[in-house]
Amino acid sequence: MITIIGAGKVGGDAALFSALRNLDDQILLLDIVKGLPQGEAMDINHALSEQGIDVEIKGSNDYSDMKGSNIVVVVAGLGRKPGMTRMDLLQKNAGIVKSVVENIKKYADDSIIIPVTNPLDPMTYICYKVSGFERNRVFGMGGMLDLSRFKQFIHEATGHSRHSIRALVIGEHGENMLPLPRFSSVSGIPLTSLLSKEKIDELVQNTRQVAAKVIELKGATVHAPGNGISTIIDSVVNGKMQVLPIATYLDGEYGYSDVTIGVPAVIGKNGVEKIIELDLNDEEKEIFNKGIESVKNAISCIQI
Ligand code: NAI
Repeated sequence: MITIIGAGKVGGDAALFSALRNLDDQILLLDIVKGLPQGEAMDINHALSEQGIDVEIKGSNDYSDMKGSNIVVVVAGLGRKPGMTRMDLLQKNAGIVKSVVENIKKYADDSIIIPVTNPLDPMTYICYKVSGFERNRVFGMGGMLDLSRFKQFIHEATGHSRHSIRALVIGEHGENMLPLPRFSSVSGIPLTSLLSKEKIDELVQNTRQVAAKVIELKGATVHAPGNGISTIIDSVVNGKMQVLPIATYLDGEYGYSDVTIGVPAVIGKNGVEKIIELDLNDEEKEIFNKGIESVKNAISCIQI
């Protein structure tokens, strides 16, 4: 069973995408607001029913219903309002995420935890530390979303099919996000040979800023994160061993320890099967390091 804690906009959408991809027979939506997860479950079940998809969505306010879950997505908490950064959510969401993880420990201590709540990297740190799970079983979704935005900008700039586009975004899921043009391509043709440096710089900047634009226009980002969550779950439950950017706890990789940040990793049945260390150049390292500093600073401000 897949459990999604937080049946709001992103949680509901993650349930829908996961069901459409047939990722499990049962998906549980859990929330503290009475009626919300139940209503969301009904709505999704109605859609699945017409499509003939035999995935049952259940809504609940009772954490004990998550017993037996093999994957738990943590997407409970406040979202950004226009003008806010992800870090502005730190203290409130830290408390929420801590209480959620206590319940995961109690009812689903064999599960894989996928944190999504923002600010993503510090929340992943909390999930890892509070759960006490092995680090391969706790990894956050943020880079997947950033990558999908970078891909869209590459698609718009080159006019090439979305099928051909490969892109990578690592680092902090926040102000110091690191889109990597050197590791992005159109069917293996390096982006750096297809577009000018000025154009690439523009795409990188747009990738960093577009979430704020979506929030300004419609209040929240919903479908791209919902999809990103389901892509990660797909790689786990189907043992796909895809290389995906995820936020994980570093233990010496990239020269850092005791911090969580986005890096590429092989995702399979055990969660993070392998962390991939890229040979970053000086410019890339500088932004990656700024992200590390920002996350470390946030972690030092929360009590775990
Ligand atoms: P939302 O407000 O629509 O939903 C959040 C839900 O969490 C609410 O239904 C609320 O009742 C529930 N909740 C609060 N405390 C809870 C608890 N202790 N137990 C269970 N449920 C609880 O917010 P939305 O838009 O779905 O975003 C959720 C979080 O995901 C935010 O922190 C947002 O910033 C983050 N986010 C992260 C992304 C990423 O790429 N990592 C992308 C988009 C959003």
